[in-house]
Amino acid sequence: MTRYTSTNDERESALQKEYIKKASAYVANLEKSLGRKPQCCVTTFGCQMNARDSEKLLGILTQIGYVPTENEEDADFVIYNTCTVRDNANQRVYGRLGFLNSLKRKKPHLKIALCGCMMQEQSVIDKIKKSYRFVDLIFGTHNIFKFAELMVTMFENQEMIIDIWQETDQIVEELPISRKYSYKSGVNIMFGCNNFCSYCIVPYVRGRERSRDPKEIVREIEHLVADGVVEVMLLGQNVNSYGKNLDEPMSFAKLLSEVEKIEGLRRIRFMTSHPKDLSDELIEVMSRSDKICRHLHLPIQAGSDRILQAMNRQYTKEQYLSLVDKIKTAMPDIAITTDIIVGFPGETLQDVEETIDVVRRVQYDNAFTFIYSKRTGTPAASMENQVSDEIVREGFDKLLKVVQDTARERAALLQGQVMEALVEEVNEQDSSLMTGRLSNNMLVHFPADETMIGQLVKVSLDVCHGFYYTGHIIS
Ligand code: SAH
Ligand code: SF4
Ligand code: F3S
Repeated sequence: MTRYTSTNDERESALQKEYIKKASAYVANLEKSLGRKPQCCVTTFGCQMNARDSEKLLGILTQIGYVPTENEEDADFVIYNTCTVRDNANQRVYGRLGFLNSLKRKKPHLKIALCGCMMQEQSVIDKIKKSYRFVDLIFGTHNIFKFAELMVTMFENQEMIIDIWQETDQIVEELPISRKYSYKSGVNIMFGCNNFCSYCIVPYVRGRERSRDPKEIVREIEHLVADGVVEVMLLGQNVNSYGKNLDEPMSFAKLLSEVEKIEGLRRIRFMTSHPKDLSDELIEVMSRSDKICRHLHLPIQAGSDRILQAMNRQYTKEQYLSLVDKIKTAMPDIAITTDIIVGFPGETLQDVEETIDVVRRVQYDNAFTFIYSKRTGTPAASMENQVSDEIVREGFDKLLKVVQDTARERAALLQGQVMEALVEEVNEQDSSLMTGRLSNNMLVHFPADETMIGQLVKVSLDVCHGFYYTGHIIS
């Protein structure tokens, strides 16, 4: 059996730094021939893990001399970091590849790379090889740390470079990272997933669960804090099983206590928590903490026991509800959010009623509702009783209404309260307002100026607009 250790692979990290130097020489040449700095654009699809991976790609790209741009049309190198959790994510990538092809015709030196979860599927690779010949570089989720090396290969070759690994036991630390936000950051605490929920492709494209060494995690956060970060989001597909396969096993709750000790760090978030192994220890650490945010994302997926079992979720509706009770008793002000799938094979409208019942009883602050998407290779894909679009739509619409009504009711409860908000960005619609995030993850907009970005301020929640507030700073 392979052992998945989490040792920092120092040799690999040194090797990649050499490739960064080598790649810089190619980019410097490109700069000479263009007469300007070459630009790169990384487009991210999917979840927070992918967003964090994109920051790693950008870290390497900027180090070798590219200037980041948000605009694909200005770029000399476009990278799509893809997601395959639902089919619509895949379709969006194929759609946009057509556009990239037209860009490349106008600008032949344009390089195009595809990476991320979608690339771990053989059928996708086959399709790209056949119909998207203009792509220069393809790599997957396991060898992202080799990006600099892969770029060197790309610069040295004319044909399409494909490098996909099925697994890895390597965790390569200390490569450059370019953060999107100055004041907050995601931090990987583990990679992969061992749960194999029967609808889900993530374990197949992200591999087996591997936890990072807690010392590396703490060290990374200390550096982030020294660099101005006040809030971290600890990332893993199931953070509650963190540390189980470390040489010296450590619980997620214990890791949180360690992270909490970091001076200067003000807020800690994490996602995602699988309900099946959320421990009492975690509830206790959270309720004692004044850094861990009052928000728990606790995906239920479905309310019917029969469906939960077919999904391989490892809990029943009642077990989930009593867990929520325990959490709310310990932390009455906590916001609970969830993910729900409608239309899993065999799900009836009666089953959806069970889900609606959970939504009413838990009173979620927010719920992400998804229509089941068949993922090739997962057990659910070969189940016979796939649900008709009509039934799915009916159940989905009914559920969505309850989800929205409940979230609105929950939001309204905060009217008039004064709460701490982290000032995040200028409001998109009205530049005299800033947008802040409360501990419970709700957004509030208030008059302030840009210099306050990254600060924690006390805000009065004056007017509730459904799912968010407008308010003012209390000095
Ligand atoms: N590890 C996380 C979820 C990661 S995927 C967890 O277990 O909670 C994010 C969400 O996508 C899932 O919670 C699920 O609701 C949804 N999802 C995953 N596979 C899906 C599929 N085949 N069809 C529709 N939604 C899916
Ligand atoms: Fe997918 Fe389940 Fe793993 Fe989440 S826990 S990533 S839903 S298999
Ligand atoms: Fe998508 Fe991969 Fe995340 S499939 S949801 S980007 S782990």
